[in-house]
Amino acid sequence: MSQKNLLIDDREAVRTITVNRPDKLNALNRQTLLELLEAMDAAQADEGVRVIVLTGSGEKAFVAGADIGEIREQTAVEARAFSAMGQDLMSRIQASDKPVIAAINGFALGGGMELALGCHLRFASSNARLGLPEIKLGIMPGFGGTQRLLRLVGTTRALELTLTGEPITAERAEALGIVNQVVEPDELETTVGDMAARLAKAAPEAVRGILQAVNQGAETDLQTGLALETARFALCCATEDMKEGTSAFLEKRAPEFKGA
Ligand code: COA
Repeated sequence: MSQKNLLIDDREAVRTITVNRPDKLNALNRQTLLELLEAMDAAQADEGVRVIVLTGSGEKAFVAGADIGEIREQTAVEARAFSAMGQDLMSRIQASDKPVIAAINGFALGGGMELALGCHLRFASSNARLGLPEIKLGIMPGFGGTQRLLRLVGTTRALELTLTGEPITAERAEALGIVNQVVEPDELETTVGDMAARLAKAAPEAVRGILQAVNQGAETDLQTGLALETARFALCCATEDMKEGTSAFLEKRAPEFKGA
């Protein structure tokens, strides 16, 4: 399967979606957003896919933002629809019950940083730069960046990054808790691949339960979050995988989860 601006590659249960506009540093135009929406839905629907990796084509950029040429030509009504479409994509990624990992292989600016912020885990190469530079264009983030960055790092850092628009290094992003781990550029693919393979072997009901409890828990009060955790814990305990995981521990062997 291949679309105009995306490359899609399956290795066992891991689907890698690569934004492929390297001559425009993988900037997200409307067409690419539509393709990403479609690709995310297809990955959700495909029972063979357990983990999704998002990355960018070439050595320079993950995604250097929304397409500035398109933004320039938009009316306010079109801009509203564009923002809603970008937000919808990032929200669908965050709500995915299959883990989505961002492999940040270079610039993750504007919509590119917002795309990464929608993912569940973020790994960055040491040469990556992350930022929300929209203010320099006379606009502001519109694909969820003000809200997700705020929730990750708090108002002090969120305002610093959005008001200055200055990109930060991968190391600083890790120190702020924006990325999980920074690795050398030639180690990014292997590091992300190892994590994806590990998650692909995990019990899917446990993965789904954790994603929902943490993501929805972040948006709710403690009692509601705890009730959700209890419900999802009970669901895990209804699976064959729970029997397999606990038996394997007691029998001192590695578990083999089957997704049942
Ligand atoms: N939208 C549209 N085109 C973009 C783009 C974007 N967000 N980011 C990069 N490009 C294009 C450039 O216009 C250029 O196209 P051209 O060769 O047809 O002129 C090409 O990608 C390469 O970019 P260039 O600026 O020449 O590379 P660089 O190495 O000098 O600089 C960046 C890299 C990332 C610092 C720079 O491209 C940049 O600042 N991009 C915009 C980042 C941004 O503001 N994003 C938020 C958008 S809302």
